[in-house]
Amino acid sequence: MTVRRKFVAGNWKMNGLKGQLGEVSAIAELAAARNDIDVALYLPATLIAAAAPLGGAVLIGAQDCHQEEAGAYTGNLSAAMLAEAGARGTLVGHSERRQYQQESNADVAAKALAAHKGGLSVVLCVGETLDTREQGDDVAHAFVADQLVASLPEGADPQWLTIAYEPVWAIGTGKVATPPQIAAMHAALRAALVKALGAEAGNAMRILYGGSVSGDNAADILHTDNVDGALVGGASLTAAKFGPIIAAA
Ligand code: 13P
Repeated sequence: MTVRRKFVAGNWKMNGLKGQLGEVSAIAELAAARNDIDVALYLPATLIAAAAPLGGAVLIGAQDCHQEEAGAYTGNLSAAMLAEAGARGTLVGHSERRQYQQESNADVAAKALAAHKGGLSVVLCVGETLDTREQGDDVAHAFVADQLVASLPEGADPQWLTIAYEPVWAIGTGKVATPPQIAAMHAALRAALVKALGAEAGNAMRILYGGSVSGDNAADILHTDNVDGALVGGASLTAAKFGPIIAAA
């Protein structure tokens, strides 16, 4: 049986100024007591350099990474820039970027590969909208599995790539997918990974759940079949809220 180490990650989105760096230190302290799990914080790029020395065992990462190494891409950041600032990983394909920056599956795959080549680990996000979910569970499973396979970078490997399933309708809404809904989706994604990558890599790749995870529901979610961790938005902004989720892993 493949043993997958639990992974608890926070995504600060467009939140956090230097005044909040104390939370990074406090979260690092909580994570230091847990050498049985991985903990990461995906911060605004402006905080990475200051947060990196405070992170300790907590992987400090970015929220996006451009697919090109350098060039005329105003406002974007390359993997090398993020790594130089102190990032050890990045998110790619978050639904907010797919929605507001029109990122396609091909863009996401290219970003993941560029990040890996630049020495960053990658959390690749997928998920369905409410519209798709309301067409039925089977439609939702097929949609997200297809999105995942189309977003997989060349050479996808569990050593550096993690998947996060985040139903768009559960992000920031307080509406959480139920453990049976999560288990069914993660099983569909596991099957898609095994088909795309082979049994060994497909079974070893971690699949996180994200969408309104909190201290109240984390234990149930983290003990659901095929759930290898959580990607947490709002409840990752303070050690007081993130601590119980780390403890639940
Ligand atoms: P919330 O936990 O705030 O719902 O956000 C989830 C998310 O999008 C994490 O990437």
